[in-house]
Amino acid sequence: MKTHNPYRILFVCLGNICRSPAAEVIFNAFLKAAGDRLPIEADSCATASYHTGSKPDARMLAALKRAGFTYGGHRARTFTTADFHRFDLIIPMDESIKEDLRQLARGEEEKERIIPMSRWFPATAASNEVPDPYYGGDSGFDYVVELLSASMPALLEDIAQRMPAPSAS
Ligand code: 4NP
Repeated sequence: MKTHNPYRILFVCLGNICRSPAAEVIFNAFLKAAGDRLPIEADSCATASYHTGSKPDARMLAALKRAGFTYGGHRARTFTTADFHRFDLIIPMDESIKEDLRQLARGEEEKERIIPMSRWFPATAASNEVPDPYYGGDSGFDYVVELLSASMPALLEDIAQRMPAPSAS
């Protein structure tokens, strides 16, 4: 499958104010820590439009800050089918988001781009999804940050394998 250069990944959750913007911030921090060697761009979006234009939830920003991550100014937006062409990897945070995206996909090639975040969870993860923290307490937000952080090295390694080797010139 032909890929974009830079390679583009899209984290997707329900509202794009908690889990997926956190994934974007954390991914970018790991990418930077890896020395910016890999040309990858990350974005995030929602399947639902209720929070379009909003900043991430203050509780999510607080949890990111507690863990030492810096938020870069994202505003929520909704997934569109054009995103199947703009991104190489589309990463739903949970099974229900994955199913919603698969319903929107037109054909196998678009479906193949959808890989749930759980693919890169450590074997010790206590869940098979990034749980929705919206209706819970602060510990749920901290758990989202912890689980995403623990998964990023494997995601980065996987993307490095998926990217075309740099051409010799
Ligand atoms: P997210 O969390 O999908 O991780 O951004 C949610 C945000 C908003 C709602 C639910 C989950 N909501 O019902 O408004």
